[in-house]
Amino acid sequence: RDRAEVEQILSEFRLKKEQLKEVMKRMMREMDRGLRVETHQESSVKMLPTYVYSTPEGSEVGDFLALDLGGTNFRVMLVKVGEDEERVWKVETKHQMYSIPEDAMTGTAEMVSPPLSPVTNSNPVFSSQGILLNWTKGFKASGAEGNNVVGLLRDAIKRRGDFEMDVVAMVNDTVATMISCYYEDRSCEVGMIVGTGCNACYMEEMRTVELVEGEEGRMCVNTEWGAFGANGELEEFRLEYDRVVDETSLNPGQQLYEKLISGKYMGELVRLVLLKLVNEELLFNGEASDLLKTRGSFETRYVSQIESDSGDRKQIYNILSTLGVLPSEMDCDIVRLACESVSTRAAHMCGAGLAAVINRMRERRSQEVLKITVGVDGSVYKLHPCFQDRFHKVVRELTPHCDITFIQSEEGSGRGAALISAVACKMAACIL
Ligand code: BG6
Ligand code: GLC
Repeated sequence: RDRAEVEQILSEFRLKKEQLKEVMKRMMREMDRGLRVETHQESSVKMLPTYVYSTPEGSEVGDFLALDLGGTNFRVMLVKVGEDEERVWKVETKHQMYSIPEDAMTGTAEMVSPPLSPVTNSNPVFSSQGILLNWTKGFKASGAEGNNVVGLLRDAIKRRGDFEMDVVAMVNDTVATMISCYYEDRSCEVGMIVGTGCNACYMEEMRTVELVEGEEGRMCVNTEWGAFGANGELEEFRLEYDRVVDETSLNPGQQLYEKLISGKYMGELVRLVLLKLVNEELLFNGEASDLLKTRGSFETRYVSQIESDSGDRKQIYNILSTLGVLPSEMDCDIVRLACESVSTRAAHMCGAGLAAVINRMRERRSQEVLKITVGVDGSVYKLHPCFQDRFHKVVRELTPHCDITFIQSEEGSGRGAALISAVACKMAACIL
């Protein structure tokens, strides 16, 4: 009986194909509204033009310092862009990685600005002007929103006064990911991140990017799809746990789609589900430890580790012990089921979003079969043991007549941003 009750509670996370199609349809609608001048403001999906065009005409050869402010780490990379004998772009990188301290995420922009020297930025930035629209994913540094981050960075470099550096470009991490993969596979016209945050970009027909003049060719659009849901599009899919996660977050009411999917929230969702099961006396004999009752104690990496358990439950037992509970075998199995429910829903929801992007591309291009490559990065996609398979399956189910290849980007953002900068330098040199 207990098992049936557990399954009943977890079944709320299961989405039928029809429901996923509905999410996809609504996402397509918001994408369309985001691209149009008259509806852009009110659309939840902002569809930011990136000014990265389809046909880069070669690039400058040289050294580029790429600063990558990701969800969890800040990476600094020296990227050498050049050509080898076969005249293929050659990119070499040296990099250093730092974890981002809490006070830098929540202090003032002045404080963060010395390390915050992003060429890639994983927050929604309007890249043509470098204005930070709003922070997401636990960043809250005051004094940055609404400001030109490139300007803040230039000031910070000047304040230090010990080196000279020109800030050439600021690009979103999805865009940099796509570009870095594009240099390996010319069909790569979509970039996606499923990590601390979740977002995607893709090559849109210029004639439908109404915010930018011009009809010819394609431009990369940063969808900022994490904000989907702000107009109520996800209400019937959001569960009580999602509402708690949102209400207790730094940005209530915002990034509702992202909060169903990304690593910033996945562990917390599982924790809330476990507490519900405890309250219903279906888990841990109806008693949770103080730690388990503490917000944020169930890390997203535990979800990956629990679902990687080989079947002997050792891994699950160890994690639950560190959280102060002594689980029975049955408890371990239930915890695993809870993790699977939350992460499968994330994969499916995210799949509906990507299917919206790909179906739109196929429609716009009037192609019988769209052959497309998606460049992907982010800790959830790369590190969760089953996310990829579940995600790929749903995307393919929802995109008939599309032939999709997924490739993972390695050090993608820094390399991609450096390549974009190299092209920008060349273009600037041509204009001069
Ligand atoms: C990294 C990219 O590999 O992935 C970053 O270089 C990106 O630019 C990051 O933001 C996303 O993953 P996570 O898991 O760190 O948010
Ligand atoms: C958040 C940010 C977005 C970024 C994504 C992945 O959704 O708003 O700009 O691309 O996280 O890091």
